[in-house]
Amino acid sequence: MNNNKYYIGIDLGTSAVKLLLVDSCGNVIRTESREYPLIFPNPGWSEQRPEEWWSGVKSGLAALLDGIDTSLIEGIGCGGQMHGLVVLDEDDNVIRPAILWNDGRTQAEVDYLNGEIGKDKLSALTANIAFAGFTAPKILWMKNNEPENFAKIKKIMLPKDYINYLLTGVHCCDYSDASGMLTLDVEHKRWSREMLAICGVTEDVMPALYESSDVVGTLLPEIAAELGLPEGIKVVGGAGDNAAAAVGTGIVGEGGCNISLGTSGTVFISSTKFGVDPNNALHAFAHADGGYHLMGCMLSAASCNKWLCEDILGTTDYAGEQRDITDDDLGNNRVFFLPYLMGERSPINDVNARGTFTGMSMDTTRKDMVLAVLEGVAFAIRDSVEVARSLGIKIDRSKICGGGAKSPLWRRIIANVLGISLDIPQTEEGPGYGGAMLAMVGCGRFGSVIEAAEALTGVSATVDPDPEITARYEAKYQIFKKIYPTMKNLFSEMKEETK
Ligand code: XUL
Repeated sequence: MNNNKYYIGIDLGTSAVKLLLVDSCGNVIRTESREYPLIFPNPGWSEQRPEEWWSGVKSGLAALLDGIDTSLIEGIGCGGQMHGLVVLDEDDNVIRPAILWNDGRTQAEVDYLNGEIGKDKLSALTANIAFAGFTAPKILWMKNNEPENFAKIKKIMLPKDYINYLLTGVHCCDYSDASGMLTLDVEHKRWSREMLAICGVTEDVMPALYESSDVVGTLLPEIAAELGLPEGIKVVGGAGDNAAAAVGTGIVGEGGCNISLGTSGTVFISSTKFGVDPNNALHAFAHADGGYHLMGCMLSAASCNKWLCEDILGTTDYAGEQRDITDDDLGNNRVFFLPYLMGERSPINDVNARGTFTGMSMDTTRKDMVLAVLEGVAFAIRDSVEVARSLGIKIDRSKICGGGAKSPLWRRIIANVLGISLDIPQTEEGPGYGGAMLAMVGCGRFGSVIEAAEALTGVSATVDPDPEITARYEAKYQIFKKIYPTMKNLFSEMKEETK
């Protein structure tokens, strides 16, 4: 008799959706991915069409399951890009393209929330203050700028919840992802009616709340038929991609750290206890394991390298660009790069900040500039790590995942810039694997997310810092730290006018 079952993990990312088929022992049997475009209608704005996510999920699933005995599939779990505003009308049509986590259009609404409503009140209601990418300022932006669209809103949801809704017909959201809306009372895990009122909406347009491993429903019969899947497959609440990635890399329970180097760059610190950064520089969110976490998020991480290589240098050979960079170069580069191509969230919270090279001379090479970009991202990650350290949180090692973490050079730079060891997880597909693990828990394969993480996650290799390189980077970081404050006012003067 075959006791094996299959679980599907979905990572609804910003550049692509990645799908994983995982067996009962946690082996990744197959992966598929489907890309979709990002739309930048104005400088600093960022949108995507939810319909394209859904097409990607459906075509990816068809390929993932080709030739697989689908009667063995038990559950589906989705990790998704956070904060994106998806709005549906009374016929369940998408009203406008989703406004994404890295969109910076809401400065006026952020100023209103943080200024007039007040940071103290926001923090008391939600454990967080307003950042341009969070969902509440986007709801207000729609109210202020697209009143006709706003009047049509019957359902508000986050990106992965749109997929869960189409799969199950259940309008749901898990606590980790809901935390990033700025409408959740994170500590007590319930919608803040006061915050909803501030945004001009009522609770009936908001999704029902679940823990990440709770089963929210089963596949709708017509969807099961369309996808060629048996009815009865369970769908769990899933998680924001960072919480899902932390599950997938085993950062659950107390005190672990995961760095994700994807389109965004995040520092995720897991905790069993609710806690708030008194300055709200780090986000205080619920975790997918039932606990909480603190997180710093930079808006452009691996995307800076992609931008430099593909858009500026005209190559997709990232490894080729990094090939000639040796240990002697690390910490000896005189070129600096501020990685704020989409403005920045943590810790500077400045939508006007922009990418900047500085320190070039006539002998600056292409290699120096490639290295400066990798280093600039590492320094910006350190900015968030330093905020955590200033709160007394000890970070002496971290897991690392995400597309950028596939570069051995970049991992080495980050280990040395932070002065910590970086553990490379056995399974690199952080959010998708975490999604599959949540499905396994929901289907009863494990008793809890922590139990699943103990059984299924491990370390394949560790990158240790080198004391000499770390010392060189320490000196460089002290310079890096001064560049943004020097530029700050200039960035607001340079602010682009929107069309
Ligand atoms: C986290 C955040 C990003 C997105 C990227 O707060 O905005 O990490 O979730 O997918």
